[in-house]
Amino acid sequence: MKVSFHGHSVVKIETNGKTILIDPFINGNDQCDLKADDVKADVILLTHGHNDHVGDTVDIAKRNDALVVAPFELATYLGWKGVNTHPMHIGGAHEFDFGRVKLTQAFHGSAYTDEEKQEIIYTGMPSGILFFAEGKTIYHAGDTALYSDMKLLEKYRIDVAFLPIGDNFTMGPGDAAVAAEWIGAKKVVPVHYNTFPVIEQNPDAFADALGNDAGHVMRPGDELEL
Ligand code: NI
Ligand code: MN
Repeated sequence: MKVSFHGHSVVKIETNGKTILIDPFINGNDQCDLKADDVKADVILLTHGHNDHVGDTVDIAKRNDALVVAPFELATYLGWKGVNTHPMHIGGAHEFDFGRVKLTQAFHGSAYTDEEKQEIIYTGMPSGILFFAEGKTIYHAGDTALYSDMKLLEKYRIDVAFLPIGDNFTMGPGDAAVAAEWIGAKKVVPVHYNTFPVIEQNPDAFADALGNDAGHVMRPGDELEL
């Protein structure tokens, strides 16, 4: 299985002959090395409805005839925009032909903002994503605050965890370091930083401070082989 990072919270997983994109915010994301017009995807997994996570989902899904897996309210909203969806919700898992997906809690908001109409469309609860394939476990925390039930994630023996460190909207580096310790993932990759001035952070300082050599900074386009 190949896992790559593409700036902000964009993660790509290649497994079982399928390409899976998580939170494909490409246009408007200066940190991203992908092009929304030619990126390949069989599946798009979304953590929540904020524009910096839904991103280019509708265009990418229509062009690739991709399946969009998201929390129920967000999946319903995107289904109305003409994409194939599979709704899920927090605590639920489903076995797909590309792997097993389980949604976790995230302490955050979830809404799609239509700037033109000055409308906020609430899209239910935000989530994190556990992804299981080829005997490996990946955790994408989405946007979240630190919360004590993260300790429960330890039982999934996570191989790679993507944790936000940007602060302001999510955990900052200090809280993310506590989360990393609780989760006990073999590798912890910081995400959701340096996309906007308000979330500027030093990912290397964060990674170096983690115990067990878990910290692993990925630059946009960097790949891990699991
Ligand atoms: Ni958000
Ligand atoms: Mn965000």
